[in-house]
Amino acid sequence: MFKVNQDYLKLPGSYLFSTIAKKVNDFQTANPDKKIIRLGIGDVTQPLCPTVIKALHDAVDEMAAADTFKGYAPDLGYSFLRDTIVDKVYKPLGAEVFADEVFVSDGAKSDSGNIQEIFEKDVKIAVCDPVYPVYVDTNVMAGRTGTYDPDTGLWSDVIYMPCTAANGYAPELPSEVPDVIYLCFPNNPTGATITKSQLQDWVDYANKNGSVIIYDAAYEAYISEADVPHSIYECEGARTCAIEIRSFSKNAGFTGTRLGYTVIPKDIKDDNGVTLNSLWARRHGTKFNGAPYIIQRAGEAVFSEAGQKETGEQIAYYMKNAAYIKNGLAEAGYTVSGGVNAPYIWLKTPDGMTSWDFFDYLLENANVVGTPGSGFGPSGEGHFRLTAFGTYENTVEAIDRIKAL
Ligand code: MLT
Repeated sequence: MFKVNQDYLKLPGSYLFSTIAKKVNDFQTANPDKKIIRLGIGDVTQPLCPTVIKALHDAVDEMAAADTFKGYAPDLGYSFLRDTIVDKVYKPLGAEVFADEVFVSDGAKSDSGNIQEIFEKDVKIAVCDPVYPVYVDTNVMAGRTGTYDPDTGLWSDVIYMPCTAANGYAPELPSEVPDVIYLCFPNNPTGATITKSQLQDWVDYANKNGSVIIYDAAYEAYISEADVPHSIYECEGARTCAIEIRSFSKNAGFTGTRLGYTVIPKDIKDDNGVTLNSLWARRHGTKFNGAPYIIQRAGEAVFSEAGQKETGEQIAYYMKNAAYIKNGLAEAGYTVSGGVNAPYIWLKTPDGMTSWDFFDYLLENANVVGTPGSGFGPSGEGHFRLTAFGTYENTVEAIDRIKAL
């Protein structure tokens, strides 16, 4: 008889957003007349901008003619997109990134889950707590996390870096040195950021200790404050220790079309001089046949002048929602943070309610869906995340309903 991967069986429950979707669907089935407003998963609601739509149409037309038809995409990405990313994302920041260090993929979720494959099984990982669940769950699947303690919600072989109100939701440099450090700024779920000099401390720490930082910058387009870095490559020395993961989902609404990329500088090498860049290229070549041509052309269009203007307007739209949520909840007496450089608002649950109790309370009484903080890790207990990615009308209605409770 076949045997299943026993590491998968260690995962407690289903994936966070699947659990939420099931609860919400059950509630809707039992209450078909209720209008549920979903501010749970960070999924966009605004249509793709006109410049992106035109690029999609043009690329589809190319597929219809024999001389412009495209088959398999290059597994690492078309050079038109890799070059554009270098020119439009990294050069303006003064960051040194080369096109053959940019790996185009079907999204940041896949990359942030798969990247752990290029490390040895016994590497020690460190994560912020709360944390985007993909980082931990994929390391569990890889058999790297030890045993799970249901009482604490912690894995024995993971270094947790609590991010709480007490430290401004900024992780502290761990005393036990990790091999791989996951950082996400602007942060999902707390919406917090760190300054460039704080990020420089992380880069210095990683270089000193031979660690690699996996920097998830999926939300960088939402940064509004000056001292917040958009890329880890703004920091000196990042080329020898940092991988950066980027997404088109949040900055350009590609949650349904799927596109992202990961940067792995060739200067990150192990003791034997093996580059992570070569391993990731090998992995892509073996397991991935490239993001679709049509979608990569759409991604290129995001960086055009018109694309930047139109996606900038969408970001402003969502950040208006963020301000409405944050101000409305603060007026109602909630303790709120985030929502300034990120499309997530992080709030303390009222009256010491657990995160899941508050989830049920909001769903049943306001028909509003959010994400329980404890789903992101033990330090998220007693907290709750609302996303600003809804429509403005639904966002206003949701907050007004919560205020009326
Ligand atoms: C979230 O809600 O945390 C994100 O939308 C999930 C994701 O990007 O996969």
